[in-house]
Amino acid sequence: MADLNDMAWWQRTIACEVYPKSFLDMAGQGTGTIAGITAKLDYLQKLGIGAMWITPCYKSPMVDNGYDVQDYYAIDPSFGTMADMDELIACGKKRGIRIVMDLVFNHTSEECSWFVESKTSRDNSKADWYIWRDAREDGSAPTNWRSIFGGSAWEWCEERGQYYLHTFAKQQPDLNWECPEVRKALFDIANWWADKGVGGFRIDAITYIKKPPVFEDGPADGEDGLYPVHAATANTPGILDFLHEFKTAVRDGRDIFMVGEANGVAAEELDKWVGENGVFDMLFEFSHTHVPMGAAEIWCRPVTWKLTDLKRALAASQAATVSNGWYPAFFENHDQPRSTVNFFRCEGPLAEKAKVLGVVLLTTRGTPFIYQGEELGYGNAEWKSIDEFDDVQTKAQFDFAKGEGLSDAEALAACVRFSRDNARTPMQWDASEAAGFSTAKPWLPVHDDYVTCNVAAQEADPDSVLAWYRSLAKLRLGNDVFLAGDWHELMADDEQVMAFERTLGDVRAVTLANFSDEPVTYDADLVEGLELLAGSMGDATTGELRPLEAVVWG
Ligand code: NOJ
Repeated sequence: MADLNDMAWWQRTIACEVYPKSFLDMAGQGTGTIAGITAKLDYLQKLGIGAMWITPCYKSPMVDNGYDVQDYYAIDPSFGTMADMDELIACGKKRGIRIVMDLVFNHTSEECSWFVESKTSRDNSKADWYIWRDAREDGSAPTNWRSIFGGSAWEWCEERGQYYLHTFAKQQPDLNWECPEVRKALFDIANWWADKGVGGFRIDAITYIKKPPVFEDGPADGEDGLYPVHAATANTPGILDFLHEFKTAVRDGRDIFMVGEANGVAAEELDKWVGENGVFDMLFEFSHTHVPMGAAEIWCRPVTWKLTDLKRALAASQAATVSNGWYPAFFENHDQPRSTVNFFRCEGPLAEKAKVLGVVLLTTRGTPFIYQGEELGYGNAEWKSIDEFDDVQTKAQFDFAKGEGLSDAEALAACVRFSRDNARTPMQWDASEAAGFSTAKPWLPVHDDYVTCNVAAQEADPDSVLAWYRSLAKLRLGNDVFLAGDWHELMADDEQVMAFERTLGDVRAVTLANFSDEPVTYDADLVEGLELLAGSMGDATTGELRPLEAVVWG
């Protein structure tokens, strides 16, 4: 049992993720601004938010919407200025909302001055800052690794006469962490931002920073003859040494948190990564999002899954962080399709599905991360053609899917279902044109349902998804059992209901969420002696759940 008094501020709060490009445009340009986030701090405060992760807003050519950083010490002009950022940090602090910066440290933009210098020769001052290799004798790339976005992970550089490695897009060359000057430059950046008073860091793509000592071909797993770079380089032994150095240089002695994005770290390995002896405070691992989506490389092949697969993944993550570290709970982020589509296999109103997921997110153990718009409960967008997408990964995946033998229509259907752009359509503030997001044409189409599904409409409706989120946030923050209580799974083998109890001393709360569109019964003894704390359909009957009903008893 955790002691609330020993818990850090970031364990006792609710976090959110903001994708600035799609949040609110105060400049009439069709893309969001930092001033837009500052303008909506009251809205976030009403959701109980105490920490706000903002995806990268540094100076960038925006090939991957900011995950290609040109200058870590500057704000991209499309988002505003450093003064806007300072204002956001200061205004956030006044409201008890600390800003969490996104550190993109596996790679930079090809336009970063480090790379611009590195590529000029084999003996400049930054010559070793990236992963350079000679071509094979026939001129081809050093290995057959496929980048995460598709195509070879190597790009030829005429100027230097060598290939460089890029785990993601070719405009995102990988940094060489073996080089001590690189590590120092990165830690300096993190310290500079920490000194500004941010509340923490989300560290991007961290499992790829260490490369294997020998670079070798792997067995092709697709028609393109390539082998996933993830399989070749993720989580290479020795990675934790780098990260311990990072922790000592940046995290130690500060009242901040660091959450790593760590695709490929299994729940069983979490104890080495988080907690006292680990390197991060929390880790975004993806065992549960892989259940409906499959692993990234085979994303366009159909996946079959059951609710118990999802429950097992979530329970394993809980078990792994009981005595070590802390769990960041999430169902959405800017790389995932909308959760109302992703985590349900049945028909039914999206709003009801959103309430089911919301109850799990806000009553589970860990720090919940709400992704912008999740609290409104909309679904994926209605894409009609591949040209409507903006995302560099979606476009590459469309081509990859066709290379795997899918027809245009099948490849498009896979993009419609899985594209990251589903999470990136503009935030829906009101029923005015462009959903109140911008006075100009938004950079991505606004979701068709914005006229009815928007913040203003939901604020006026006590039964809305937003109202449900706000009431659950109050419930969580007002009851220690949800913050500090132990977590035990209930009905583990049930294929329709996700259920767990939280216990703290003699206080007990039970969450039951029906993920199916059928009525279900459960053992009423589970909630005996408890009162209804929250019901997604208003009232509730013990021992019974209506289709897509979620309840909390305590
Ligand atoms: C993970 C980020 O969440 C994603 O949006 C980005 O494309 C890759 N890392 C590369 O930085």
